[in-house]
Amino acid sequence: MSAEGELRAQMSALCASLFQRGFSVGTAGNVSARLPDGLLMTPTNSTLGAIDPERISKIAPDGILLSGDPPSKEIFLHRAFYDTRPEAGAVVHLHSTWATALACLRSTDPDNCVPPLTPYVVMRVGQVKLLPYVRPGDPRAGEMIRALGGACAAVLLANHGPVVSGRDLFSAVCAAEELEETARLLVALEGRDTRYLTGAQVAELNQTFGRI
Ligand code: 13P
Repeated sequence: MSAEGELRAQMSALCASLFQRGFSVGTAGNVSARLPDGLLMTPTNSTLGAIDPERISKIAPDGILLSGDPPSKEIFLHRAFYDTRPEAGAVVHLHSTWATALACLRSTDPDNCVPPLTPYVVMRVGQVKLLPYVRPGDPRAGEMIRALGGACAAVLLANHGPVVSGRDLFSAVCAAEELEETARLLVALEGRDTRYLTGAQVAELNQTFGRI
């Protein structure tokens, strides 16, 4: 199988896994991966539970649909990450419950939505910013991600859900899962006297493991 064929099969399998474990319901969420000559993206209005590898949208660098079904309406979010983070090889957008809960809470710090609660959220996700609400598919969300200049590997879209980039498809999916589980912990601990990792502990993790 070609490298692109393998990536298509991997995308279908990881999307199904996310769906089966409840990280996505209905037709919520979209996933993309960078190719040497463009990107692959889940089609609009498709369920992550049943992505046909042959019908995945293939998009040229200029945004033209080369093959497959029409792409997700959130293509702006994905392209903004690829254009500002050269190291990003894949992007995952979900409406997963707990990260979306954080994106709805007024108490969430927009500059640091996910404080350093555990080592793995530091290692896999890093700083997460909250972007103001716009409707799904509004290109302004892409502009807001571009305005971060590649500083964050992940954002929360207010009242909508997380968008997470990673070095490759598997890394991006793992990071999206880590963000979701950490959001769940944060909501569970809300209002309780919680110990976070110190600046020195975060620095040690970044020095030892790097990120994404
Ligand atoms: P698409 O079906 O266009 O990918 O949109 C789903 C979604 O998650 C919107 O935010």
